[in-house]
This record gives sequence, structure tokens and C-alpha cells, in this order.
Amino acid sequence: MFDVAPSAYRALLGALDLTDLGPRPDDFRAAVWAGLSGARKAIPCRFLYDERGSQLFDLICDLPEYYPTRTETGILARHAGEIARAAGPDVQLVELGSGASVKVRLLLDALERPSAYVAIDISAEHLAAAAARIRADYPGLAVQAVCADYAEAFDLPEPGAGRRLAFYPGSTIGNMPPVEARDFMALWARRLGPGSQMLVGVDLRKDRAVLERAYDDSRGVTAAFSLNLLARANRELGADFDLDAFRHEARYDERRGRVEIHLRSLRDQTASVGGRVFAFRDGERIHVEDSWKYDLDDFRRLATAAGYRTRRVWTDPADLFSVHLLDVAE
Ligand code: AVI
Repeated sequence: MFDVAPSAYRALLGALDLTDLGPRPDDFRAAVWAGLSGARKAIPCRFLYDERGSQLFDLICDLPEYYPTRTETGILARHAGEIARAAGPDVQLVELGSGASVKVRLLLDALERPSAYVAIDISAEHLAAAAARIRADYPGLAVQAVCADYAEAFDLPEPGAGRRLAFYPGSTIGNMPPVEARDFMALWARRLGPGSQMLVGVDLRKDRAVLERAYDDSRGVTAAFSLNLLARANRELGADFDLDAFRHEARYDERRGRVEIHLRSLRDQTASVGGRVFAFRDGERIHVEDSWKYDLDDFRRLATAAGYRTRRVWTDPADLFSVHLLDVAE
């Protein structure tokens, strides 16, 4: 996040009817200090997505090893008509994380007279660019941008008429532990209200080799994405991490069903962050992200516990990825 958004973005955001509820700039320093002070070091994964991190994540989505993006897009392309019929006419489409992606366009193109598009994203830059493109390409559609952490409390705007269809693609739900994912889904069931729906992309459990390649690609883009956390601390907090002295590691814990991502210190070293010094032993790890994978029935159970009824589930022919259409239970 920018401390003060550059004027170009401000202008764009103003033109877009933007509600700015983004995090305060000192959140990152507080999170890094807290995360590096414990016995098991960690930096919360939401800080991966500054401007550079978001660019790297876009590159990850196009990597041959990273199957989720193209697989989910394929599922949506194949089944957009069925999804639109199940959603019905005049819905307000609410996207959690305003992807620059083709995915939301597949829905907007298939839906019958969508009344509004609400984009919610923590990155003002991404949000402004994505919402402006949708506004240009769908004249007549009410577009509203909300700069916020969509896991936090805020009032959901209602720019159109008709019931809400929330769209939460990319298996971003997988970056929370299942109990948190359930609570998050329950929060959104309440926020959306009875009669609304949620369309959520969920990555599936699969072969270890496929998963570990997807999270440790041969070109090193995912490694750069993880290391960007330390680079970001150097840029924004005046930290002095030596990026060559940490290595990205991705390991699938099959029992838990999650890919665990760490940065491993390659020697005994110290790093100073905003005036505080942290020591790292040779081999010590900083946890940066987990990516949980589900069985179809596990996720159905989670959705039920969160207050939804599963209406339809679509998968790809190789059962790599799933898309669940959920009704908020009355
Ligand atoms: C955003 N999220 C769903 C990605 C994932 O697959 O867990 C983040 C990611 N991290 C490394 N590669 C992709």
C-alpha cells in the first residue's frame, strides 16, 4: 500500500467511486517485528502483495507449473452458461480480490443483465486498474471499488438492484487454515445475506510432485515472490536483509493437506528492521505462507458449517481444481 497514493491513482480512484478502507502503512512494520520475535518466525502472507509482489503473482499465474489459474479459467469457460443460469438475472457481482483476470469477464459475459460489479482489493493500484478496465469494457454496468481487506469488517456497498453473487476465485481461501476459512466464509454468508450466492474456487489435494513444482518453479518466480517480503522490508522499512542469504522452500505436508512455504536462512546472520535487530541461525526458517488443498467432500462440509448449501460443484477432467456454487442458507 502507498502511504499516500500517487495522484494518478487518486484521480482514477476518485472517478471510480472508491471506498478506501486499506490498511495503515505501519501495519507492515508491526507485523514484521511481531513475526520475527517469536520462537517460530513468520511474516503474514497478506504482505506478499505490494506492487512488486502483485506483479510477480501475475507472472506465477502464467507459469507452466502453476496449474490453478489456467485450470480454474478452463472450468469457468466451460461452465459459465450453467453458472449464469443458476445465478439468475440482474445479480450484483461482488469480486473478492479484484483480479486483473479474464475470469470475472467470463462471468460478466455469461450473466443475464448483471446490475453491478463491486471489486474489493487491498491493493489500491490493482483495484484502480482492474475496475477502470471493467468500467471501460462494460458500459452501463455500475462499477464500485472498495479498497479493503475483505476479511475485515466493512459495509458492503449496494450499487445495483438484485441479489448478490460473490466471486472468490483462485483458491485464495486456501491461504487460510480451514477453521479460519470456515469463519471467513460464515462472515461472508452474513455479509451477503439470505438469497445470495458465493462462487468459490478451491484447489484439490493431489500428487506431491505436482504441488511442489507448482510452488517452486524452475524459473524461480515463486522464489522471487517469497523473497519479495524481505525485499519489501528493505524498501519500506529500511531493513538490511541479504536476499542471497535466504532460500525459498515449498514442501507438501500430505497429512495436513497443505503446501508450506518458508524462507530458510543459509547462514548465521542478523538483519535490522526499523531499528530492531533480529538474529537467524543457519537453517532457521521464516514461515511465509501455507496453501491448503481440499477433497471435494471436505470443502462441502466446510461450506455447510459456514452457513451455505452447495448447489453445484464443477471440476476439470484431471480433478486438479474445483469451483463450488453455494447458496447462503436461509
Ligand atoms: C493466492 N494464492 C491462492 C496462491 C496459492 O496458490 O496459494 C499464492 C501463491 N503462493 C505461491 N504461489 C502462489
